[in-house]
Amino acid sequence: MTARVVLGVGVDLVETGRMQDAIGRWGDRFTQKIFGETERLYCEDKAEPWRHYAGRFAVKEAVSKAFGTGIGEHIGWLDIEVMRDADTGAPSVRLSPRARALAEQRGGGEVLVSLSHTKRYAVAQAVLVAHDP
Ligand SMILES: CC(C)(COP(=O)(O)OP(=O)(O)OC[C@H]1O[C@@H](n2cnc3c(N)ncnc32)[C@H](O)[C@@H]1OP(=O)(O)O)[C@@H](O)C(=O)NCCC(=O)NCCS
Repeated sequence: MTARVVLGVGVDLVETGRMQDAIGRWGDRFTQKIFGETERLYCEDKAEPWRHYAGRFAVKEAVSKAFGTGIGEHIGWLDIEVMRDADTGAPSVRLSPRARALAEQRGGGEVLVSLSHTKRYAVAQAVLVAHDP
């Protein structure tokens, strides 16, 4: 197996209640600003959508930390989309062209993510790994 070089890590913790409040207050205006259509369709199909939204929100922040930029001028919410393996349910991220360019600038080839949620919290971890040598 080839050794993989870690270029950056990020973690984020989100209170699901805050996500629930934001969705209750701002509705689609909020979710459409932060989440892509695939993400929204998945979350809206769940009994407690805010839990899954909170997990995806945490992934986006964790990825931005792994890049070392945070969410802002270099990378926005919609530049990071959380995908889901249809067979296993495992999450992964799809990066927009400008987010991919940022990863490339840092020598990154892939971003690995994991997420978990309970009734109160959602947590995510992201690891930016280098291209295979
Ligand atoms: C995959 C598994 C570990 C998920 O853990 P969980 O405690 O049910 O749920 P968590 O809140 O920690 O994590 C949920 C997230 O895990 C991720 N996930 C789901 N399946 C996954 C997989 N195969 N690999 C990696 N991540 C996975 C998803 O992103 C999911 O969130 P989402 O639905 O919003 O996309 C779990 O379903 C499992 O396989 N457990 C095996 C043991 C078991 O069955 N225990 C039950 C009896 S004690």
